[in-house]
Amino acid sequence: MPENSHQSLADELREHLVYMSELGVHEVDAAVPMVPHREASTSVGKIDERVPASEIPEILSSKFKTNTEETPRMAPARGKRDLLGGTKLSDVTVPAESKRIAPKQEHRKEEPDPPAQEEEMESVESTLQNDSLETIRAEIGSDCSRCQLCEERTQVVNSVGSAKAQLMVIGEAPGADEDLKGEPFVGRAGKLLTKILESIGFERSDVFIGNINRCRPPQNRQPTLEESAMCKPFLLREIEVVNPKVIVVLGNTATKNLLETTTGITKLRGNFVEKFGVKVMPTFHPAYLLRDPRKKREVWEDMKKIRDFLESSND
Ligand code: URA
Repeated sequence: MPENSHQSLADELREHLVYMSELGVHEVDAAVPMVPHREASTSVGKIDERVPASEIPEILSSKFKTNTEETPRMAPARGKRDLLGGTKLSDVTVPAESKRIAPKQEHRKEEPDPPAQEEEMESVESTLQNDSLETIRAEIGSDCSRCQLCEERTQVVNSVGSAKAQLMVIGEAPGADEDLKGEPFVGRAGKLLTKILESIGFERSDVFIGNINRCRPPQNRQPTLEESAMCKPFLLREIEVVNPKVIVVLGNTATKNLLETTTGITKLRGNFVEKFGVKVMPTFHPAYLLRDPRKKREVWEDMKKIRDFLESSND
């Protein structure tokens, strides 16, 4: 094998060991290949020691933390770069006025007549062009009651992170820890997510993290389509404002919803899909990895694709 192939194999193996170690895996079954290369399927033995910082490949330094543009992150004018291309404009219509308690069965409004529709379109256009994360958050409001999830939640859990993030993470909905703390992905699954992000060189604060639904569903049930439809437009606006290079979408429910597909996560994961003019990578949810740690290997493969894409786009 040529010298440089040995080197890249060694680098890859070292990265993988760092990743597994970061994820708390300290022993590896020799029967399970750690990396996809045939040559590397020998035992890697015990990983008791963390790899010294000096040996951590350069790739793990935060090379692609944030977009470097200095300009304020206002949503680009439609037509200039159509981030929501492929999404019906009606999808990003801001849900009815905030502060109103949603009547239980009565979410549907009368169809507006054509001039009213035109006005609405114009106002959506102008909203998109002048949007900011602050405006979106203010519009949602801390006492949002657009859907029934407001009844049992503790608080609205808004997205967090850098408005210049190159990488955006999207989950399904807050769980109990997030509901109490008011921040997405802070429970056990969230801590694992943080380690996964770190394994490809991202600090949590460099990434923009949000959910399709911002309120915890009772007993962590799946949000209904209606509940998601009320909340998702705000996330789509955040995508437009942040304009990330890559979105990683976590788990079956969020993936199907974001990509508007019925195809399941097992089929979709591992391949970029173009949506909103952004590369979207579906992968398994960290909560699933907690239940089945063997799936971490697939997530690692997916994360490496994201890292490689971002690295090449920054060259
Ligand atoms: N699971 C999610 O999908 N989102 C969170 O914020 C926490 C757990």
